[in-house]
Amino acid sequence: MFLRQAFIIFILVLCLLKTSISFAKSLPILRGVNMGNALEAPIEGEWGVVIRDEYFKLIKEAGFDHVRIPVRWSAHADIRPPYNIEANFFKRVDHVVNEALKNGLYVILNIHHYDEIMQRPEQHKDRFLKIWEQLSRHYKDYPETLWFELLNEPCNYLNSKLWNQYLKEAISIIRKTNPTRKIIVGPTDWNSIYKLNELEIPNDPNIVVTFHYYNPFQFTHQGAEWVSPSPPVGTKWLGTTFEKRIVSGELDMAVEWSKRHNNVPLLLGEFGAYSKADMESRVRWTSFVARSAEERGIAWCYWEFCAGFGVYDPVKGEWRTPLLRALIPEVKK
Ligand code: BGC
Repeated sequence: MFLRQAFIIFILVLCLLKTSISFAKSLPILRGVNMGNALEAPIEGEWGVVIRDEYFKLIKEAGFDHVRIPVRWSAHADIRPPYNIEANFFKRVDHVVNEALKNGLYVILNIHHYDEIMQRPEQHKDRFLKIWEQLSRHYKDYPETLWFELLNEPCNYLNSKLWNQYLKEAISIIRKTNPTRKIIVGPTDWNSIYKLNELEIPNDPNIVVTFHYYNPFQFTHQGAEWVSPSPPVGTKWLGTTFEKRIVSGELDMAVEWSKRHNNVPLLLGEFGAYSKADMESRVRWTSFVARSAEERGIAWCYWEFCAGFGVYDPVKGEWRTPLLRALIPEVKK
């Protein structure tokens, strides 16, 4: 009898140890939201969103711990060497970053919509690296709660072979001024899980690997004007066993990849379903993806705050509660 109890306790301790070991590798962030359609538009406001200071207080109070701020630096840097970034644009981004940090949020700052590098990578490589040189110098004294993400969704002609070289060079440039800041990097094909196996990351304890998840695309991007041909509106996501199994299987692929790569922490940096899908399906899908990521120790960042996928309605000035609860089920007292 005693032996049996001792054995059970032994197994329990082992389980606890295993949990704490896998937690040791996890991140200080879990739930975030993208401040999309603002600073990655050609000019902030052109896509209908201007980031207001008060948003960050709302976001923090709702239970999020980080924001990802997509920025189109390529539209605000010289096209000739040394590719100087406009001082006024820096000021605006600094202001937004500072407001988020001030509210106790972690901040992910990236290079977003650098479309030219996807079409003519070799021609833009130097500019991309010089932009990172400026960003890393500019933000070197910022708190460690500011994280860098090298490039949103490498795609088209920026293939894995090139991207693996560029990312290595960008990281070594950043490391000269920011030796331990977290750097996020993702695979090609728009940060696809299916390209993780082509991604090569340097041996650095402060690397985080990101991927984006919009499957099934026919559902999440129905009626999306920027997709051609745009998937027809009307596809539901019912949360059947079959539908769930696909999502789980794909997230498991990312976890398996991480296990084979020294348990590098994972961030699901974008996921969301466009507002043309019915709300019930969006809520079911969003909740299932968020919980499934959490169960696997994957931090996530919802796409996005207050535009076409928005969890917040900027006109009414209120959260879209069903979506918010899908993301953050606990109601704060
Ligand atoms: C793009 C957005 C787009 C979203 C969903 C993001 O990476 O930057 O413009 O709305 O993906 O397609």
